[in-house]
Amino acid sequence: MAGVATSGTRPLLSLEGITKAYPGVVANDGISLDLFAGEIHALVGENGAGKTTLVGAIHGLHQPDAGRILLDGEPVTMPSPRAALARGLGYVQQHFSLIPTLTVAENLVLALRGSPQAVGIGEAADRIEELGERYGLRVDPHALVADLSVGLQQRAELLKALAREARVLTLDEPNSLLAPQEWDELERVLRRLAESGVGILLISHKLDEVLRVADRISVLRRGRLVATLPAAEATEQQLAELMVGTLQQPVTRDGASRPRAGEPLLVVEDLWVEGDRGEDAVAGVTLTARAGEVLGIAGVEGSGQVELTEALCGARPMKRGTIRLDGRDISSAGVRERRALGLAHVPADRREGGLVGTLSVAENLALPTIGEHGRFGFLDRRAIRHRAEELIGTFDVRVPGPDTLVNALSGGNQQKVVLARELSRPLRVLLCCYPTWGLDVAAAAAVQRQVLALRDRGAAVVYASVELDELLAVTDRIVVLNRGRIAGEIATAEATADRLGLMMAGARAA
Ligand SMILES: Nc1ncnc2c1ncn2[C@@H]1O[C@H](COP(=O)(O)OP(=O)(O)OP(=O)(O)O)[C@@H](O)[C@H]1O
Ligand SMILES: [Mg+2]
Repeated sequence: MAGVATSGTRPLLSLEGITKAYPGVVANDGISLDLFAGEIHALVGENGAGKTTLVGAIHGLHQPDAGRILLDGEPVTMPSPRAALARGLGYVQQHFSLIPTLTVAENLVLALRGSPQAVGIGEAADRIEELGERYGLRVDPHALVADLSVGLQQRAELLKALAREARVLTLDEPNSLLAPQEWDELERVLRRLAESGVGILLISHKLDEVLRVADRISVLRRGRLVATLPAAEATEQQLAELMVGTLQQPVTRDGASRPRAGEPLLVVEDLWVEGDRGEDAVAGVTLTARAGEVLGIAGVEGSGQVELTEALCGARPMKRGTIRLDGRDISSAGVRERRALGLAHVPADRREGGLVGTLSVAENLALPTIGEHGRFGFLDRRAIRHRAEELIGTFDVRVPGPDTLVNALSGGNQQKVVLARELSRPLRVLLCCYPTWGLDVAAAAAVQRQVLALRDRGAAVVYASVELDELLAVTDRIVVLNRGRIAGEIATAEATADRLGLMMAGARAA
C-alpha cells in the first residue's frame, strides 16, 4: 500500500451509489468507491464495463441518475467539466485535447484562461518549465504540439492538468499507445504526484502495469463494482477472472501444426513515405508477406509503423517504391481499388477507422458494401441487420442491438466494430496497426485468435505492434522498424523478448 492510509483518514473523493442508465444498458449500477490523497487507484474492467462513464460523472461530463459525489466529505455536484476543474479535479481523456497548431505554452494559456491560475504567454512557459522540473516531465514550452511524439503530448496533457493544481487526477487509458520506456516514465511521474498528495484514478487494460503502479484496484463488471483490493494482494489472473467472471485462456503459440508460409502475396520494394511533418517516415522499406504467415512489424511509437501500414492500404500517398498484391502492381491504386482486390486495413486510430458515429452499428458494418451496391435504400435492410447480429456475436461487441448508434459504444467496442468489419471481408492481405489498442484482455485475445484463423485460411497478415509479448504470441516472422528503416529481421520461433528487446534497443541507439 506504499504508505497510503486508507482507514481512519477521510477520503479525498467518495462515490456513493453512482448509477447511470442509457437506453438498453445500465452503464453504472450503484457504484461506491473512495479515493484517498496520495493513492493511485486503478479502475479495470472489460470493454463497456462502465469505466469511462463512472469517471465522466466525477468530471461533470454527465449527471448520474442516482448517487452522490463527496469531496473532502462534503456532497458536491459537477454540473460541467469546467466546474469539476474549478474544484481541482483534472481529467486526461484518452483522446488528446491539445490544439496541434499551437505551442505547448499557448495551449496552457488557453486552458487556464478564466481560471484562478490564468497566465500570460511568458508566465506559461515558466510554469511549464517549473512543473516539468518538479515532476520530471520536461517538454519544450515553445514546441508545436503537432511536432511532439505521443509520449510528449501525454506529458503536455498532464502538465496542463497539473497547472490547474489538480488534487484529483483521472487518466483514461493513458498508456495505450505509449512505448514501454514512455510508460516507465509515466509511472514515475504518477508516483511522484501521488507522493505530493494527489489522488490518482487510472483506467487501463494493461493489468501487469496496473499491478506495478497502483496501490488499490477496483474491478467493474457490466456496470457493477465487483471488488476493490490492494494491488499487493492481487494477481493478473485473478483480476482477469474478476473482470469477466470466468477463467481466461491466453493465446499461445503452437508452431508445430502450422502449414509453411506459401507464395508471396504482398511484395513491397524500396518504399518511401512522408510523415505528417514532411519527414521520411518510411525510408526505403523492402518486405514480403506470404500467404499463411503473420509478419510482425516491431518498433517503438514513431518508428514508421503507422505511415507504413497507411501507405500500404492507400490511405497515405507514397513518394517512391512499388507495392505488389498477388503479383499485380497496386502502387498507384486508390484505397477502394486495393480493398476490392482483397486488402483490408485496421488503422491505429479508430477515429480514422471509417466509423460513422451517427450511423448504427449495422450500417457501419455494411459501409464497405455500399460502394458496390449503391445507397442504403437499395440494400436489403434485413440482410444487413442479420449480418450485423452475426458479427456482433462473433466479435463479442457489447451493444444493446444492431440499431444502436456507434457514438453510444464504449471506446473498446467501437474498435471491435472496426475489427469485425475488416476481418470479416473476403481478404487476401490484412494490414493491422496496433489492432488490440484499447481492448480488454479477453477481447484482445479474441482478436489475435481471429488473426491466426485468417492466416490459417491462407491470408497474409502484416501486424504492427509496440508490444513484444503480442508480437511473440501472434507472428511467424518479425521485422524491426527503426526511424522508417528495417533494422533487422528474425523468425519468431528464434525470438525471445530479450533478443527482440535488444534488436529494438540497438535500433533505437542507431
Ligand atoms: N452516451 C451514451 N449513450 C448510450 N450508451 C452509452 C453512452 N456512453 C456509454 N454508453 C454505454 O455504457 C456502457 C459503458 O460504457 P463505458 O464507455 O463507460 O465503458 P468502458 O468501461 O469505458 O469501456 P472501454 O474499455 O471500451 O472504454 C456501454 O455499454 C456503452 O455502450
Ligand atoms: Mg472507456
